[in-house]
Amino acid sequence: MTTTLSLLTPSGRLTLGNLLGALRPMAERQGPTDDRARYGISDLHAMTTPHDPALLRTRTRELMTLLLAAGLDRATLFRQSAVPAHTGLAYLLECTAHTGELNRMIQFKEKGRGVPSTRCSLFTYPVLMAADILLHRPAQVPVGDDQRQHVELTRDLALRFNATYGPVFTVPEVVTPAAGARVMDLAEPTRKMSKSVEGPGSILLLDPPDVVRRKVARAVTDSDTGPDAVRADREAKPGVTNLIDVLVACGGSAEGLTTYGALKAAVTDAVVAVLEPLQKRYVDLAADPVHVDDVFARGSARCRELTEPVLADARTAMGL
Ligand code: TYM
Repeated sequence: MTTTLSLLTPSGRLTLGNLLGALRPMAERQGPTDDRARYGISDLHAMTTPHDPALLRTRTRELMTLLLAAGLDRATLFRQSAVPAHTGLAYLLECTAHTGELNRMIQFKEKGRGVPSTRCSLFTYPVLMAADILLHRPAQVPVGDDQRQHVELTRDLALRFNATYGPVFTVPEVVTPAAGARVMDLAEPTRKMSKSVEGPGSILLLDPPDVVRRKVARAVTDSDTGPDAVRADREAKPGVTNLIDVLVACGGSAEGLTTYGALKAAVTDAVVAVLEPLQKRYVDLAADPVHVDDVFARGSARCRELTEPVLADARTAMGL
């Protein structure tokens, strides 16, 4: 019986936000048993905005290696495009989803803003994501805060499908971490740190320590110089609040810190301590691409076996 499922999209270089919001909570949820945790690469979702095929291949390889380096080695790891039931179920779910509810998706509105035309797949993106989830019947979906609305739509689709066609799907629970669920951009702390915007405000998982130090040193704070300047207040002090959140998510504490200089030094040390072991493992794994490919090929084959019967149940329930 599976319990956890989550995927990451190879649409850019992974950031500290991806690690704290998703990869670490995902790693913590692995059990000793096979197939209880299923984690994947949503390469099909990387094609919902204009993409370069060669770059998609490079990013996919980098992400496969990073998932292993982040300690997801006890999970069943797969590529979405290598498990055809994902697209098979997506179409069936499109026959249950309403255009109105897809129009309300924040990510669709944000990615489509100011763009003269968008791909149809950007509109149906949340339905493919619902298929990713429901096919594996997970109890929990660990994600960052920005994916919460998509998992809530998935729950609605599962309830609707079960009520209309019979009890095929488990209704999953969304889980977000207490700290690090929404890591903000260091240079613009009112928007989330994103892998599609590489700039001075994004800490990349493969940034060397001196780059991390420089980015944190330049992080936007405020002009508060009072004795209690180092305190969390999302509205009034977004930059400082974000640094405190990152510090706590990386195992540190802002207690006793009175200056922004001290806060930034503590954040740098905590982030570097979290990234260094991951980067060491990444270098070793990157030297053995055959092993990395093999892990994903075996995991994808296992997921094909596990998901075909679920797709068959859904098809039968719908009258096919
Ligand atoms: P993606 O690739 O944009 O992000 C991967 C994971 O990282 C989380 N995340 C963050 N968490 C905290 N702070 C941030 N700044 C931050 N940025 C990203 C995301 O919430 C996510 O958990 N559509 C998904 C991938 C997907 C998926 C799924 C996830 C496809 N199918 C099924 C769960 C279940 C996405 O593009 O995430």
